[in-house]
Amino acid sequence: MSQLSSKPESILFVCLGNICRSPTAHGVLESMLMGAGLQNRIVVDSAGTGAYHVGNKPDSRMMKASLQRGFDLSHLRARAVHQSDFERFSLILAMDLENYHDLKEVCPKEYQDKIKMFLTYASNNSVVSVPDPYYGGEDGFEEVLDLVEDACSGILKTFL
Ligand code: 4NP
Repeated sequence: MSQLSSKPESILFVCLGNICRSPTAHGVLESMLMGAGLQNRIVVDSAGTGAYHVGNKPDSRMMKASLQRGFDLSHLRARAVHQSDFERFSLILAMDLENYHDLKEVCPKEYQDKIKMFLTYASNNSVVSVPDPYYGGEDGFEEVLDLVEDACSGILKTFL
């Protein structure tokens, strides 16, 4: 069985600040699991490789764009990745290559295989990373949502 078709019980999404990309994936997958009645089967969480925004709500621009597509992120609060996450979660999905390498650097050897790129679940294999929208315009937040909705649908399919 391939890694992608295996069924993890817990998923951690990771970006840099945990206020734009990973909380969006967190909220979107939670919502999709709820829609499919699978919310009690899979634990979803998100965290940042950096600690600059710990305790904060998702970025207001990201929350607004998400809400326009029906995804409420207002209950989420940023936190940093913790060493215990590598043991706790069965799948750890990096939003970009920098997040991926940062995770690989601090992850214990026995858990290295849990770390994957989030967009391996996307329908379009040509995009590797979800671009960081923090310093850009509104389009960047829409692009994050396009990629996140697509890849989260791919993740959901592994549970159906
Ligand atoms: P995220 O976006 O990693 O998708 O949450 C960012 C948020 C904040 C910063 C960078 C990226 N920052 O530099 O503060």
